[in-house]
Amino acid sequence: MKQRLKHRIADIVIFGGTGDLALRKLFPALYEMERTGRFDDETRIFGASRSEHSDEEFRSKLEEAGKKFIPKGEFEADIWTKFASRISYVQVSAGDEAGFKVLYDKLSDQPDRDRVYYFSTSPSLFADMAFNLKKVGLVTPNSRVVLEKPLGHDLESCREINGQIGEVFEENQIFRIDHYLGKETVQNLMILRFANAMFEPLWNSAHIDHVQITVGEEVGVEGRWSYYDDAGAMRDMVQNHMLQLLCLVAMEAPYVLDQDAVRDEKVKVLKALQPITDANIDSATVRGQYRKGAVGGKEVPGYLEEEGANVDSTTETFVAIRAELNNWRWAGVPFYLRTGKRLPKRHSEIVIQFRDVPHQIFPLAKSMTNYQANKLVLRLQPDDGIHLVLNNKNPGPGLVRLRPTALNLSFAEAFGGRSPDAYERLLLDAIDGNNTLFVRRDEQDIAWQWVDAIQEAWQNNHVTPKGYTSGTWGPSAAIALIERDGRTWNEEAGF
Ligand code: BG6
Repeated sequence: MKQRLKHRIADIVIFGGTGDLALRKLFPALYEMERTGRFDDETRIFGASRSEHSDEEFRSKLEEAGKKFIPKGEFEADIWTKFASRISYVQVSAGDEAGFKVLYDKLSDQPDRDRVYYFSTSPSLFADMAFNLKKVGLVTPNSRVVLEKPLGHDLESCREINGQIGEVFEENQIFRIDHYLGKETVQNLMILRFANAMFEPLWNSAHIDHVQITVGEEVGVEGRWSYYDDAGAMRDMVQNHMLQLLCLVAMEAPYVLDQDAVRDEKVKVLKALQPITDANIDSATVRGQYRKGAVGGKEVPGYLEEEGANVDSTTETFVAIRAELNNWRWAGVPFYLRTGKRLPKRHSEIVIQFRDVPHQIFPLAKSMTNYQANKLVLRLQPDDGIHLVLNNKNPGPGLVRLRPTALNLSFAEAFGGRSPDAYERLLLDAIDGNNTLFVRRDEQDIAWQWVDAIQEAWQNNHVTPKGYTSGTWGPSAAIALIERDGRTWNEEAGF
Protein backbone atom coordinates (compact mmCIF):
# COMPACT_ATOMS: atom_id res chain seq x y z
CA MET A 1 0.00 0.00 0.00
CA LYS A 2 1.32 3.45 -0.83
CA GLN A 3 2.34 5.37 2.26
CA ARG A 4 0.35 8.55 2.79
CA LEU A 5 2.44 11.66 2.96
CA LYS A 6 2.23 13.72 6.09
CA HIS A 7 0.85 17.18 5.30
CA ARG A 8 2.54 19.59 7.63
CA ILE A 9 0.88 22.70 8.97
CA ALA A 10 3.50 25.18 10.06
CA ASP A 11 4.61 28.79 9.88
CA ILE A 12 8.14 29.02 8.57
CA VAL A 13 10.13 32.26 8.80
CA ILE A 14 13.42 32.55 6.97
CA PHE A 15 15.54 35.38 8.40
CA GLY A 16 18.16 36.44 5.88
CA GLY A 17 15.45 35.66 3.34
CA THR A 18 17.14 37.48 0.47
CA GLY A 19 20.58 36.05 1.23
CA ASP A 20 22.59 33.61 -0.82
CA LEU A 21 21.77 30.51 1.21
CA ALA A 22 18.05 31.28 1.24
CA LEU A 23 17.89 31.78 -2.52
CA ARG A 24 20.21 28.94 -3.45
CA LYS A 25 19.16 26.27 -0.98
CA LEU A 26 16.34 27.05 1.47
CA PHE A 27 13.58 28.23 -0.85
CA PRO A 28 14.37 25.54 -3.45
CA ALA A 29 14.14 22.96 -0.63
CA LEU A 30 10.78 24.36 0.48
CA TYR A 31 9.61 24.34 -3.12
CA GLU A 32 10.50 20.66 -3.32
CA MET A 33 8.31 20.01 -0.30
CA GLU A 34 5.50 21.73 -2.14
CA ARG A 35 6.15 19.68 -5.24
CA THR A 36 6.08 16.45 -3.31
CA GLY A 37 2.89 17.45 -1.49
CA ARG A 38 4.27 17.70 2.03
CA PHE A 39 2.53 20.92 3.03
CA ASP A 40 -1.03 21.42 4.13
CA ASP A 41 -2.80 24.29 2.36
CA GLU A 42 -2.58 26.33 5.54
CA THR A 43 1.21 26.28 5.82
CA ARG A 44 2.70 29.75 5.49
CA ILE A 45 6.22 30.83 4.61
CA PHE A 46 7.73 34.25 5.39
CA GLY A 47 10.92 35.77 4.11
CA ALA A 48 12.42 38.33 6.47
CA SER A 49 15.32 40.67 5.94
CA ARG A 50 16.44 44.27 6.29
CA SER A 51 15.70 45.46 2.77
CA GLU A 52 12.39 46.83 1.64
CA HIS A 53 10.32 44.64 -0.71
CA SER A 54 6.67 44.16 -1.41
CA ASP A 55 5.39 40.57 -1.28
CA GLU A 56 5.25 40.62 -5.07
CA GLU A 57 8.84 41.84 -5.47
CA PHE A 58 10.06 39.24 -3.04
CA ARG A 59 8.23 36.43 -4.81
CA SER A 60 9.61 37.42 -8.18
CA LYS A 61 13.12 37.52 -6.73
CA LEU A 62 12.54 33.99 -5.45
CA GLU A 63 11.13 32.87 -8.76
CA GLU A 64 14.14 34.15 -10.64
CA ALA A 65 16.46 32.34 -8.22
CA GLY A 66 14.23 29.26 -8.26
CA LYS A 67 14.57 28.91 -12.02
CA LYS A 68 18.31 28.94 -11.56
CA PHE A 69 18.72 26.77 -8.50
CA ILE A 70 15.86 24.27 -8.56
CA PRO A 71 17.15 21.08 -10.21
CA LYS A 72 16.51 20.88 -13.94
CA GLY A 73 13.08 19.71 -14.94
CA GLU A 74 11.58 20.26 -11.48
CA PHE A 75 10.47 23.85 -11.83
CA GLU A 76 6.79 23.59 -12.76
CA ALA A 77 4.86 26.81 -13.23
CA ASP A 78 1.59 25.68 -11.59
CA ILE A 79 3.38 24.26 -8.56
CA TRP A 80 5.41 27.44 -8.28
CA THR A 81 2.20 29.50 -8.32
CA LYS A 82 0.80 27.49 -5.43
CA PHE A 83 4.10 27.70 -3.56
CA ALA A 84 4.39 31.45 -4.11
CA SER A 85 0.88 31.99 -2.77
CA ARG A 86 2.08 30.80 0.66
CA ILE A 87 4.96 33.25 0.76
CA SER A 88 4.99 36.78 2.10
CA TYR A 89 7.70 39.18 3.05
CA VAL A 90 8.41 41.08 6.25
CA GLN A 91 10.99 43.82 6.57
CA VAL A 92 12.85 43.19 9.81
CA SER A 93 16.19 44.32 11.20
CA ALA A 94 17.64 42.10 13.91
CA GLY A 95 17.75 44.81 16.54
CA ASP A 96 14.54 46.60 15.61
CA GLU A 97 11.54 45.57 17.67
CA ALA A 98 9.07 47.29 15.33
CA GLY A 99 9.71 44.82 12.49
CA PHE A 100 9.15 41.91 14.88
CA LYS A 101 5.80 43.42 15.86
CA VAL A 102 4.80 43.36 12.20
CA LEU A 103 5.77 39.71 12.11
CA TYR A 104 3.76 39.12 15.27
CA ASP A 105 0.68 40.61 13.62
CA LYS A 106 1.07 38.15 10.76
CA LEU A 107 1.57 35.07 12.94
CA SER A 108 -0.51 35.72 16.03
CA ASP A 109 -3.78 34.43 14.56
CA GLN A 110 -2.30 30.91 14.93
CA PRO A 111 -0.61 30.93 18.33
CA ASP A 112 -0.46 27.15 18.70
CA ARG A 113 0.93 26.34 15.31
CA ASP A 114 4.39 24.78 14.85
CA ARG A 115 6.78 27.59 14.01
CA VAL A 116 10.24 27.39 12.54
CA TYR A 117 12.48 30.46 12.70
CA TYR A 118 15.46 29.89 10.44
CA PHE A 119 18.37 32.22 11.23
CA SER A 120 20.25 32.34 7.95
CA THR A 121 22.18 35.48 8.86
CA SER A 122 25.49 36.37 10.43
CA PRO A 123 25.69 34.79 13.92
CA SER A 124 26.35 38.26 15.35
CA LEU A 125 22.63 38.92 14.81
CA PHE A 126 21.31 35.71 16.38
CA ALA A 127 20.98 37.01 19.93
CA ASP A 128 19.12 40.20 18.92
CA MET A 129 16.72 38.24 16.75
CA ALA A 130 16.02 35.71 19.49
CA PHE A 131 15.48 38.41 22.14
CA ASN A 132 13.15 40.36 19.88
CA LEU A 133 11.13 37.28 19.00
CA LYS A 134 10.67 36.71 22.69
CA LYS A 135 9.90 40.33 23.48
CA VAL A 136 7.02 40.54 21.04
CA GLY A 137 5.59 37.20 22.15
CA LEU A 138 6.56 35.06 19.17
CA VAL A 139 8.32 32.31 21.13
CA THR A 140 5.80 29.63 22.04
CA PRO A 141 6.30 26.03 23.18
CA ASN A 142 5.80 24.96 19.55
CA SER A 143 8.49 27.29 18.20
CA ARG A 144 11.86 26.10 16.98
CA VAL A 145 14.92 28.00 15.90
CA VAL A 146 17.37 26.77 13.27
CA LEU A 147 20.88 28.19 13.54
CA GLU A 148 23.14 28.26 10.52
CA LYS A 149 26.84 27.72 10.96
CA PRO A 150 29.33 29.07 11.82
CA LEU A 151 28.17 29.34 15.38
CA GLY A 152 30.91 31.54 16.71
CA HIS A 153 34.57 31.72 15.97
CA ASP A 154 35.90 29.69 18.85
CA LEU A 155 34.66 27.99 21.99
CA GLU A 156 34.19 31.25 23.87
CA SER A 157 32.13 33.03 21.21
CA CYS A 158 30.13 29.87 20.54
CA ARG A 159 29.31 29.57 24.24
CA GLU A 160 28.25 33.19 24.32
CA ILE A 161 25.82 32.77 21.41
CA ASN A 162 24.49 29.48 22.77
CA GLY A 163 24.03 31.10 26.17
CA GLN A 164 22.02 33.95 24.68
CA ILE A 165 19.87 31.70 22.51
CA GLY A 166 19.42 29.43 25.54
CA GLU A 167 17.82 32.32 27.44
CA VAL A 168 15.02 32.33 24.86
CA PHE A 169 14.68 28.76 23.60
CA GLU A 170 14.95 25.40 25.38
CA GLU A 171 17.69 23.09 24.07
CA ASN A 172 15.10 20.83 22.37
CA GLN A 173 13.83 23.86 20.44
CA ILE A 174 17.30 24.69 19.09
CA PHE A 175 18.34 23.14 15.77
CA ARG A 176 22.03 23.75 15.01
CA ILE A 177 22.42 22.81 11.43
CA ASP A 178 25.31 20.95 9.85
CA HIS A 179 24.09 20.28 6.36
CA TYR A 180 26.44 17.31 5.97
CA LEU A 181 24.19 15.39 8.36
CA GLY A 182 21.31 15.86 5.93
CA LYS A 183 23.18 14.27 3.02
CA GLU A 184 21.76 10.90 2.04
CA THR A 185 25.18 9.30 1.85
CA VAL A 186 26.14 10.55 5.28
CA GLN A 187 22.98 9.10 6.79
CA ASN A 188 23.67 5.90 4.94
CA LEU A 189 26.89 5.58 6.88
CA MET A 190 24.88 4.85 10.01
CA ILE A 191 22.74 2.33 8.12
CA LEU A 192 25.82 0.63 6.71
CA ARG A 193 27.33 0.26 10.15
CA PHE A 194 24.31 -0.41 12.29
CA ALA A 195 21.91 -2.27 10.01
CA ASN A 196 24.42 -4.76 8.57
CA ALA A 197 26.03 -7.28 10.87
CA MET A 198 29.05 -8.10 8.76
CA PHE A 199 31.16 -4.99 9.28
CA GLU A 200 30.74 -4.49 13.00
CA PRO A 201 33.03 -7.36 14.13
CA LEU A 202 35.78 -5.86 11.95
CA TRP A 203 35.16 -2.22 12.84
CA ASN A 204 37.99 -1.70 15.32
CA SER A 205 41.73 -1.38 15.73
CA ALA A 206 42.29 -5.13 15.47
CA HIS A 207 41.17 -5.08 11.83
CA ILE A 208 41.31 -1.49 10.63
CA ASP A 209 44.69 -0.04 9.72
CA HIS A 210 43.56 3.55 9.28
CA VAL A 211 40.73 5.79 8.12
CA GLN A 212 40.86 8.64 5.58
CA ILE A 213 38.26 11.35 5.31
CA THR A 214 38.59 13.66 2.33
CA VAL A 215 36.29 16.52 1.42
CA GLY A 216 37.70 18.10 -1.69
CA GLU A 217 36.20 21.07 -3.48
CA GLU A 218 36.89 22.53 -6.89
CA VAL A 219 35.46 25.89 -5.97
CA GLY A 220 37.40 28.73 -4.38
CA VAL A 221 35.92 31.27 -1.96
CA GLU A 222 33.05 32.12 -4.29
CA GLY A 223 32.73 35.81 -3.49
CA ARG A 224 32.72 35.12 0.27
CA TRP A 225 36.25 36.32 0.92
CA SER A 226 35.64 38.31 4.06
CA TYR A 227 33.62 35.56 5.75
CA TYR A 228 36.03 32.89 4.62
CA ASP A 229 39.16 34.77 5.56
CA ASP A 230 37.91 35.06 9.10
CA ALA A 231 37.10 31.36 9.25
CA GLY A 232 39.57 29.40 7.12
CA ALA A 233 39.19 25.74 6.28
CA MET A 234 39.57 24.75 9.92
CA ARG A 235 36.50 26.61 11.14
CA ASP A 236 34.57 26.41 7.89
CA MET A 237 34.87 22.66 7.32
CA VAL A 238 36.81 20.78 10.01
CA GLN A 239 35.07 22.02 13.17
CA ASN A 240 31.73 20.91 11.80
CA HIS A 241 31.45 18.74 8.68
CA MET A 242 34.70 16.79 8.98
CA LEU A 243 34.30 16.08 12.70
CA GLN A 244 30.70 14.99 12.15
CA LEU A 245 31.88 12.50 9.54
CA LEU A 246 34.56 11.27 11.90
CA CYS A 247 31.94 10.80 14.63
CA LEU A 248 29.72 8.72 12.37
CA VAL A 249 32.61 6.45 11.42
CA ALA A 250 33.88 6.07 14.97
CA MET A 251 30.81 6.12 17.24
CA GLU A 252 29.37 3.16 19.08
CA ALA A 253 25.90 1.95 18.10
CA PRO A 254 23.26 4.05 19.86
CA TYR A 255 20.77 1.92 21.78
CA VAL A 256 17.90 3.52 19.88
CA LEU A 257 17.53 5.95 16.98
CA ASP A 258 16.68 8.85 19.16
CA GLN A 259 18.07 12.36 19.26
CA ASP A 260 19.86 12.07 22.56
CA ALA A 261 21.01 8.48 22.16
CA VAL A 262 22.70 9.28 18.83
CA ARG A 263 24.21 12.51 20.02
CA ASP A 264 25.45 10.99 23.29
CA GLU A 265 27.52 8.55 21.22
CA LYS A 266 28.95 11.31 19.05
CA VAL A 267 29.93 13.30 22.12
CA LYS A 268 31.91 10.31 23.42
CA VAL A 269 33.90 10.22 20.18
CA LEU A 270 34.69 13.93 20.33
CA LYS A 271 35.78 13.60 23.95
CA ALA A 272 38.14 10.80 22.95
CA LEU A 273 39.93 12.91 20.32
CA GLN A 274 43.54 13.24 21.35
CA PRO A 275 44.39 16.95 21.63
CA ILE A 276 46.91 18.26 19.13
CA THR A 277 49.35 20.55 20.89
CA ASP A 278 52.61 22.47 20.40
CA ALA A 279 54.45 19.16 20.76
CA ASN A 280 52.97 17.52 17.66
CA ILE A 281 51.46 20.39 15.67
CA ASP A 282 54.05 20.05 12.91
CA SER A 283 53.75 16.33 12.45
CA ALA A 284 49.97 16.16 12.89
CA THR A 285 48.71 19.06 10.76
CA VAL A 286 49.31 20.81 7.45
CA ARG A 287 47.91 24.20 6.48
CA GLY A 288 47.74 25.25 2.86
CA GLN A 289 46.59 28.21 0.78
CA TYR A 290 45.82 27.99 -2.91
CA ARG A 291 47.85 29.82 -5.50
CA LYS A 292 46.81 30.42 -9.05
CA GLY A 293 46.53 27.41 -11.28
CA ALA A 294 43.97 25.54 -13.34
CA VAL A 295 40.98 23.55 -12.14
CA GLY A 296 38.96 21.50 -14.60
CA GLY A 297 40.92 23.07 -17.47
CA LYS A 298 40.09 26.63 -16.35
CA GLU A 299 42.64 29.17 -15.14
CA VAL A 300 41.80 30.39 -11.64
CA PRO A 301 43.33 33.11 -9.45
CA GLY A 302 45.17 32.43 -6.22
CA TYR A 303 43.48 33.04 -2.87
CA LEU A 304 45.32 36.33 -2.40
CA GLU A 305 44.17 37.54 -5.82
CA GLU A 306 40.49 36.81 -5.25
CA GLU A 307 38.07 39.72 -5.23
CA GLY A 308 38.23 41.64 -1.97
CA ALA A 309 41.38 39.82 -0.82
CA ASN A 310 43.83 41.14 1.70
CA VAL A 311 47.18 40.26 0.19
CA ASP A 312 48.76 39.57 3.57
CA SER A 313 46.22 36.98 4.59
CA THR A 314 47.56 33.86 6.26
CA THR A 315 44.22 32.05 6.32
CA GLU A 316 44.29 28.39 5.30
CA THR A 317 42.17 27.09 2.44
CA PHE A 318 43.42 23.55 2.97
CA VAL A 319 43.97 21.46 6.08
CA ALA A 320 45.27 17.96 6.57
CA ILE A 321 45.25 16.41 10.03
CA ARG A 322 46.39 13.16 11.55
CA ALA A 323 43.92 12.60 14.35
CA GLU A 324 43.76 9.84 16.92
CA LEU A 325 41.09 8.65 19.29
CA ASN A 326 41.95 7.58 22.81
CA ASN A 327 39.48 4.80 23.31
CA TRP A 328 39.32 1.02 23.30
CA ARG A 329 37.93 0.65 19.78
CA TRP A 330 40.29 3.00 17.99
CA ALA A 331 43.55 3.13 19.96
CA GLY A 332 46.46 3.38 17.52
CA VAL A 333 44.32 3.84 14.39
CA PRO A 334 45.09 7.13 12.67
CA PHE A 335 42.25 9.13 11.13
CA TYR A 336 43.65 11.24 8.31
CA LEU A 337 41.41 14.20 7.56
CA ARG A 338 41.86 16.41 4.55
CA THR A 339 39.80 19.22 3.10
CA GLY A 340 40.53 22.06 0.75
CA LYS A 341 39.34 24.43 -1.91
CA ARG A 342 40.57 24.50 -5.51
CA LEU A 343 41.53 20.84 -5.47
CA PRO A 344 41.48 18.93 -8.77
CA LYS A 345 37.83 17.95 -8.43
CA ARG A 346 34.82 17.88 -6.15
CA HIS A 347 35.45 14.66 -4.40
CA SER A 348 34.46 13.53 -0.92
CA GLU A 349 34.96 10.10 0.49
CA ILE A 350 35.65 8.05 3.56
CA VAL A 351 38.14 5.25 3.21
CA ILE A 352 38.28 2.43 5.72
CA GLN A 353 41.54 0.63 5.11
CA PHE A 354 41.48 -2.80 6.70
CA ARG A 355 44.67 -4.56 7.71
CA ASP A 356 46.37 -6.87 5.26
CA VAL A 357 46.38 -10.62 5.85
CA PRO A 358 49.00 -11.52 8.48
CA HIS A 359 51.13 -13.38 5.93
CA GLN A 360 50.69 -12.71 2.24
CA ILE A 361 51.66 -15.65 0.02
CA PHE A 362 50.66 -14.09 -3.32
CA PRO A 363 52.53 -11.34 -5.13
CA LEU A 364 50.70 -8.33 -6.60
CA ALA A 365 50.24 -8.10 -10.35
CA LYS A 366 52.95 -5.83 -11.78
CA SER A 367 50.55 -3.13 -12.94
CA MET A 368 48.93 -2.99 -9.51
CA THR A 369 51.75 -1.87 -7.29
CA ASN A 370 49.93 1.32 -6.27
CA TYR A 371 46.71 -0.45 -5.48
CA GLN A 372 45.61 -1.80 -2.17
CA ALA A 373 42.76 -4.14 -1.38
CA ASN A 374 40.90 -4.81 1.88
CA LYS A 375 39.39 -1.40 1.64
CA LEU A 376 35.92 0.03 1.94
CA VAL A 377 35.41 3.34 0.16
CA LEU A 378 32.28 5.30 0.99
CA ARG A 379 31.94 7.90 -1.71
CA LEU A 380 29.92 10.87 -0.53
CA GLN A 381 29.97 13.13 -3.56
CA PRO A 382 29.71 13.20 -6.47
CA ASP A 383 28.78 9.69 -7.72
CA ASP A 384 27.77 8.57 -4.27
CA GLY A 385 28.17 4.90 -3.62
CA ILE A 386 30.08 2.17 -1.85
CA HIS A 387 33.13 0.39 -3.18
CA LEU A 388 34.56 -2.67 -1.53
CA VAL A 389 38.03 -3.39 -2.83
CA LEU A 390 39.01 -7.06 -2.66
CA ASN A 391 41.99 -9.06 -3.81
CA ASN A 392 41.27 -11.27 -6.80
CA LYS A 393 43.38 -13.42 -9.04
CA ASN A 394 44.87 -11.53 -11.95
CA PRO A 395 43.39 -13.45 -14.91
CA GLY A 396 45.70 -15.54 -17.08
CA PRO A 397 48.10 -18.43 -16.95
CA GLY A 398 51.48 -18.36 -15.30
CA LEU A 399 52.28 -17.13 -11.83
CA VAL A 400 49.27 -16.48 -9.59
CA ARG A 401 49.20 -12.76 -8.90
CA LEU A 402 46.82 -10.50 -7.05
CA ARG A 403 44.66 -7.92 -8.67
CA PRO A 404 42.71 -5.62 -6.31
CA THR A 405 39.22 -5.19 -7.79
CA ALA A 406 36.24 -3.20 -6.55
CA LEU A 407 32.68 -4.30 -5.96
CA ASN A 408 30.89 -1.11 -6.90
CA LEU A 409 27.51 0.04 -5.68
CA SER A 410 26.31 3.26 -7.25
CA PHE A 411 23.37 4.74 -5.39
CA ALA A 412 22.12 6.49 -8.52
CA GLU A 413 22.00 3.18 -10.40
CA ALA A 414 20.64 1.17 -7.49
CA PHE A 415 17.92 3.53 -6.37
CA GLY A 416 17.30 5.67 -9.45
CA GLY A 417 15.70 9.07 -9.09
CA ARG A 418 17.32 12.10 -7.64
CA SER A 419 18.88 12.25 -4.26
CA PRO A 420 17.22 14.98 -2.17
CA ASP A 421 19.28 17.96 -1.16
CA ALA A 422 20.45 17.93 2.46
CA TYR A 423 18.39 21.01 3.28
CA GLU A 424 15.15 19.30 2.24
CA ARG A 425 15.63 16.60 4.81
CA LEU A 426 16.81 18.96 7.54
CA LEU A 427 14.04 21.51 7.04
CA LEU A 428 11.49 18.74 7.22
CA ASP A 429 13.05 17.45 10.45
CA ALA A 430 13.00 20.97 11.92
CA ILE A 431 9.30 21.32 11.05
CA ASP A 432 8.65 17.94 12.66
CA GLY A 433 10.71 18.84 15.74
CA ASN A 434 13.18 15.99 15.29
CA ASN A 435 16.70 17.13 16.06
CA THR A 436 18.59 13.84 15.74
CA LEU A 437 20.46 15.20 12.71
CA PHE A 438 21.28 18.52 14.36
CA VAL A 439 24.20 19.34 16.59
CA ARG A 440 23.73 19.45 20.35
CA ARG A 441 25.31 22.18 22.41
CA ASP A 442 27.85 19.98 24.21
CA GLU A 443 28.83 18.34 20.92
CA GLN A 444 29.62 21.72 19.45
CA ASP A 445 31.58 22.86 22.51
CA ILE A 446 33.86 19.84 22.45
CA ALA A 447 34.48 20.18 18.72
CA TRP A 448 35.48 23.81 19.25
CA GLN A 449 37.76 22.86 22.12
CA TRP A 450 39.71 20.47 19.91
CA VAL A 451 39.87 22.94 17.03
CA ASP A 452 40.85 25.86 19.28
CA ALA A 453 43.83 23.88 20.59
CA ILE A 454 45.07 23.40 17.03
CA GLN A 455 44.57 27.06 16.20
CA GLU A 456 46.48 28.00 19.32
CA ALA A 457 49.34 25.67 18.49
CA TRP A 458 49.48 27.11 14.96
CA GLN A 459 49.77 30.54 16.47
CA ASN A 460 52.34 29.64 19.12
CA ASN A 461 54.50 27.91 16.53
CA HIS A 462 54.02 30.48 13.76
CA VAL A 463 52.65 27.83 11.43
CA THR A 464 51.68 29.68 8.26
CA PRO A 465 49.97 28.04 5.29
CA LYS A 466 52.08 26.50 2.56
CA GLY A 467 51.13 27.54 -0.95
CA TYR A 468 49.69 24.92 -3.30
CA THR A 469 48.87 25.27 -6.95
CA SER A 470 45.15 25.29 -7.65
CA GLY A 471 44.16 22.01 -9.22
CA THR A 472 46.51 19.90 -7.07
CA TRP A 473 45.76 17.89 -3.91
CA GLY A 474 47.22 20.52 -1.58
CA PRO A 475 50.78 21.15 -0.41
CA SER A 476 53.30 18.34 -0.72
CA ALA A 477 53.49 18.36 3.08
CA ALA A 478 50.00 16.79 3.09
CA ILE A 479 51.34 13.87 1.11
CA ALA A 480 54.31 13.63 3.45
CA LEU A 481 51.94 13.65 6.45
CA ILE A 482 50.48 10.29 5.48
CA GLU A 483 53.57 8.87 3.75
CA ARG A 484 55.59 9.25 6.94
CA ASP A 485 53.38 6.49 8.28
CA GLY A 486 53.99 4.32 5.19
CA ARG A 487 50.51 5.02 3.76
CA THR A 488 49.11 6.93 0.80
CA TRP A 489 46.00 9.00 0.13
CA ASN A 490 43.41 7.00 -1.69
CA GLU A 491 43.48 8.91 -4.95
CA GLU A 492 47.12 7.91 -5.33
CA ALA A 493 46.18 4.31 -4.71
CA GLY A 494 43.21 4.18 -7.11
CA PHE A 495 39.52 3.35 -6.72
C1 BG6 B 1 29.81 25.00 3.71
C2 BG6 B 1 31.06 25.81 3.68
O1 BG6 B 1 29.43 24.72 5.03
O2 BG6 B 1 30.02 23.77 3.03
C3 BG6 B 1 31.53 26.05 2.26
O3 BG6 B 1 30.85 27.06 4.33
C4 BG6 B 1 31.64 24.74 1.51
O4 BG6 B 1 32.76 26.75 2.24
C5 BG6 B 1 30.37 23.93 1.67
O5 BG6 B 1 31.87 25.05 0.15
C6 BG6 B 1 30.53 22.55 1.07
O6 BG6 B 1 29.29 21.91 1.06
P1 BG6 B 1 28.94 20.81 -0.05
O7 BG6 B 1 27.58 20.35 0.34
O8 BG6 B 1 28.99 21.50 -1.37
O9 BG6 B 1 29.99 19.76 0.09
